[in-house]
Amino acid sequence: MENDSKINMIEEAGLLEPSQEYREKSYVSSENEYRTKYAMSLQDSNAFWNSVADELDWFKRGDTVLEGEITDFKYFPGSLINVSYNCVDRHANGKRANKVAIAWEGENGDAKILTYKQLQREVAKFANVLLSLGVQKGDVVSVYMQNLPETFVVLQAVLRIGAIYNTVFAGFSPEALRERVNNSGAKMLVCANASFRRGKVLPLKGIVDEALTQAPTVEHVVVYHRIDHETPMQEGRDFDYAELMSKASDVCPPVPLDANDPGLLIYTSGTSGKPKGIVHAGGGFLLGTYAYSKYQLDLRDEDFYFNTADIGWLTSHIFVLVGGLACGVTTLLYEGALDHPHPGRLYEMIDKYQVNKLFSAPTAFRMLLKHGDELAQKYQLNTLELFASVGEPLNPEAWDWVQRSLGKGRAVINNTWGQTETGGTPLALLPGAISMKPGSCGVPFFGHELAVVDAGGQDVEPMTPGFLVLKRPFPTLVRDVWNDHERYLSTYFSQIPGMYFTGDSAIIDRDGHFWVLGRVDDVINVSGHRISTMEMESALIKHDAVVEAAVIEQPDEIKGTVPIAFVTLEKSYKASDEVEEMLKQKIVDEIGSFARPQRIHFVDVMPKTRSGKIIRRMLREIVQTGGVMGDRTGLEDSEVIDKLLGSIRGE
Ligand code: PRX
Repeated sequence: MENDSKINMIEEAGLLEPSQEYREKSYVSSENEYRTKYAMSLQDSNAFWNSVADELDWFKRGDTVLEGEITDFKYFPGSLINVSYNCVDRHANGKRANKVAIAWEGENGDAKILTYKQLQREVAKFANVLLSLGVQKGDVVSVYMQNLPETFVVLQAVLRIGAIYNTVFAGFSPEALRERVNNSGAKMLVCANASFRRGKVLPLKGIVDEALTQAPTVEHVVVYHRIDHETPMQEGRDFDYAELMSKASDVCPPVPLDANDPGLLIYTSGTSGKPKGIVHAGGGFLLGTYAYSKYQLDLRDEDFYFNTADIGWLTSHIFVLVGGLACGVTTLLYEGALDHPHPGRLYEMIDKYQVNKLFSAPTAFRMLLKHGDELAQKYQLNTLELFASVGEPLNPEAWDWVQRSLGKGRAVINNTWGQTETGGTPLALLPGAISMKPGSCGVPFFGHELAVVDAGGQDVEPMTPGFLVLKRPFPTLVRDVWNDHERYLSTYFSQIPGMYFTGDSAIIDRDGHFWVLGRVDDVINVSGHRISTMEMESALIKHDAVVEAAVIEQPDEIKGTVPIAFVTLEKSYKASDEVEEMLKQKIVDEIGSFARPQRIHFVDVMPKTRSGKIIRRMLREIVQTGGVMGDRTGLEDSEVIDKLLGSIRGE
């Protein structure tokens, strides 16, 4: 959708008040209360973060809240805290000891629960396992696992001893895993032997073995045997999770850490071909995610909360692993595909566990919409009161349907906005307080100063598109790019000095709601998975058959957008279905199956500028409209478009 039609849509969006019932019980109960608190939180953001810090447990708490400013800042420098203590022990040693922390369901129907007390024991045991294998404070541990209680145990254990975890989505290929492991310099890798995905067994350990053929820093691999499946183990390097756990002591005191020590590392796609390691401070991440989870999801003790995010992406860390557990919530964790073995699987789990808060991806909501009321009506779904999502636009059609059909017209729908780099969601509703607008990303969170600016950094008027920026630091903002401080400075802070540049464009409407329009760089969003088109192009070019490649996105009803590639072939190759399949597979091998292009067009020429840069905007227009209506003056060869259209039609 072009900006003009988006602006019309925004102008026309109506405000929908949350129900009185919800208003009465939420942490912030009116728009006025939000506005007053928000203004105060900007006037004195230190006082706001101090009030959040008061709700957590510290080993030592100094007086300084913020030191420094954007590009080089610290929250609570010198203050000592431990994330795992706050997520686990704080509850296990108190009233929530026997409360369910994690209720897990495997794709095949296996189920397990862990109370806070049980979680504490398991975390302490695995922390001892890590120590016994030589992992120390500051070492990186890569984790290649699906959603399992054991994944939570491993990650919390890493945080407990002050090491740094790096989760890699267990859908990444061996190449992509190797690249991440090597860039991070991981000392250890923890994986599951296999996972279920749509009934198929995915041999994760096999992928790990392939990845580690050239990963010299990894000394040990710990394998959790999730499925009875042949799993080769390398003598001396590989250890069995259960065996190590059976011998480990369940006492392991958490290590007091400076709130700014790195806690986690997660790779994400940027404009260049190489993914970058986003570094988050452990204490800062805890502080912020606790506040987002509490206020934006309104988490409380009586909730049964289901977040479908995969642990390979940061959403799960923000709202479950760290933020959710820090709030002491009961969370449902699910291993597999939401529509397997039947399209009603998600609904079935909602009824079974009486879930009242559901966090999922817009793609999942669109998938459910496709199955329509007919499927939804087969289930009760009468406990749901809040739906939240992040990662990609939640289109008004899906929003309306979720509200009406799943939320029975009374639920709150919270379309939050955040990034791996922001480590949380600076934009969202506060359920119960802020009126909803289908499609908007809500309002700024306390202590966060967001703006929409022009290229010179000046605020633009309401209803005018511009760059979305954050004008001051906050505890979960990316602290560095692993091993590449220059890239940190140039990617996020060079466009508009003194501000964090999000890479998104946005509009602020006349009611102060923010609308995120999309990326202003070469990053695309497929089902909420963030993929760099440059990374896909680099993968294609590595193949002998490819001379040039350009990847663009095309709108898709369910996935939001899907990647489409344009390729010029080396002379000895002829365009064919087999070559198309081979090149799609190349991307799957280099990145993972979630990046598989929907289509590859073989072309003889590419539209280029006089300096030889491919003009992807024109390819996008060709795919979306079948021609190029816009300006063609930048083209090196004006006939190239007709040649291109000719070769695409000839396919
Ligand atoms: O373009 C924005 C889009 O997703 C990007 C961030 O992706 P990722 O780092 O994978 O973040 C995961 C969330 C912690 C953003 O730059 N995005 C995120 N939320 C929304 C969105 N686009 C539109 N609407 C949203 N609600």
